[in-house]
Amino acid sequence: MARTFFVGGNFKLNGTKQSIKEIVDRINEASLANDVEVVLCPPAPYLDYAAGLVAKSQVTVGAQNAYVKGAGAYTGENSVEQIKDVGAKWVILGHSERRTLFGEDDKLVAEKTKFALDQGLGVILCIGETLEEKKAGTTLKVVETQLTAVIDQVKDWSNVVVAYEPVWAIGTGLAATPEDAQDIHAHIREFLSAKLGADVAEKTRILYGGSANGKNAVTFKDKKDVDGFLVGGASLKPEFVDIVNSRN
Ligand code: G3P
Repeated sequence: MARTFFVGGNFKLNGTKQSIKEIVDRINEASLANDVEVVLCPPAPYLDYAAGLVAKSQVTVGAQNAYVKGAGAYTGENSVEQIKDVGAKWVILGHSERRTLFGEDDKLVAEKTKFALDQGLGVILCIGETLEEKKAGTTLKVVETQLTAVIDQVKDWSNVVVAYEPVWAIGTGLAATPEDAQDIHAHIREFLSAKLGADVAEKTRILYGGSANGKNAVTFKDKKDVDGFLVGGASLKPEFVDIVNSRN
């Protein structure tokens, strides 16, 4: 069974109404491979606006985070219901910046993932090791621990996409090699198979994130366990279209 290629654009805390309109207009006007799922994740204030601009059925919008509970006295948070209400279909959870800058641990990421899925939102679940963990040779243990926290709470993975984002490659220009990414993606798939069964593992898309760009995306083309990308900086640039089309 072929897994649909998936490319997410994580704009992070970047953009204005004008720049986001330019990005979405560029995607609307571009010739995209028709078997690719594209999700644009602008900052929360622009989610509704971006959703209204998208003009291609293969393109949807997503949030970059969501609270672990529904509507209520949670000043400053964004709820899954509100994210869905403005037309978004996905939410990024567990991004390393949420973990390192905002103290989100494996347990909270798992609780957020369960809540978002239960409310009908797709989850782009971010995992990945720090440079220190890589140097210590604990990469596989780290990603297994991060996945286990979610596996313990979530049994239906049909609306989960995993994004392996080595923290040391994020925003550094130093992407993992396609070979290293393939090895870790294969290990992630084997781990999912052991914990959730071969069918779930086979169907779950595993994205690579960390300095993916218009030049290096194509070098991952023959890596059978790399099912797409979660793109940061390059998602703000015209080369994002090249990443979307990098499987052609
Ligand atoms: O979520 C994607 C992001 O962490 C990767 O950032 O700028 O290295 O593509 P970047």
